[in-house]
Amino acid sequence: MKLLHIDSSALGNHSVSRQLSADIVAQLQRAEPGLRLHYRDLAADPLPHWTPAAGASDPAADAVLAEFLAAEVIVIGAPMYNFAISSQLKAWLDRILVAGQTFRYGANGPEGLAGGKRVIIGSSRGGFYGKDTPAAGMDFQEPYLRAAFAFIGITEVTFVRAEGIALGAGQKAQALAEASQQIELLAA
Ligand SMILES: Cc1cc2nc3c(=O)[nH]c(=O)nc-3n(C[C@H](O)[C@H](O)[C@H](O)COP(=O)(O)O)c2cc1C
Repeated sequence: MKLLHIDSSALGNHSVSRQLSADIVAQLQRAEPGLRLHYRDLAADPLPHWTPAAGASDPAADAVLAEFLAAEVIVIGAPMYNFAISSQLKAWLDRILVAGQTFRYGANGPEGLAGGKRVIIGSSRGGFYGKDTPAAGMDFQEPYLRAAFAFIGITEVTFVRAEGIALGAGQKAQALAEASQQIELLAA
């Protein structure tokens, strides 16, 4: 099985989402030692903003799309920045949602062409955005990612969340412990 591992936090070794994505990949590797891994660090190796010229012929963008299409499982470290995803991850999505490759417009509207893949997202947030919290309506990270992947036909999307990271070391430790429990269940 081919696994594509993506990180998109700008915070390097201090990043929580990087820790989550690494733990998710390690768990999947324990379950399937023969896993073939491809890693892309969108902060260390950023993609330029999409432009018509870059969209027309860009070997780097072609490689990004090819490695996505080849993967059966995609693990993404996704920090919440200003209620949404990092601009690094947005630049990647702009290379993944491509008409004629991962979706097309048919007689009945848009049709996803990339179905059958599994996406697991390690999501970190400074605050809390659960459905019963006051800030629930400000979460443009998880609904956006679910919508973007559903648009290209991927509905098997799992979120492993670490929330309240900005509330101090105790809450961060608790959030990571809870995330670890979620990660242990992934390969079940
Ligand atoms: C530029 C920036 C914007 C942020 N915006 C938000 C936000 O809108 N909501 C929130 O709860 N936390 C916000 N945070 C806190 C991050 O979500 C939190 O630190 C999380 O751990 C980031 O993931 P990372 O550690 O993998 O980078 C922000 C942090 C940064 C650096």
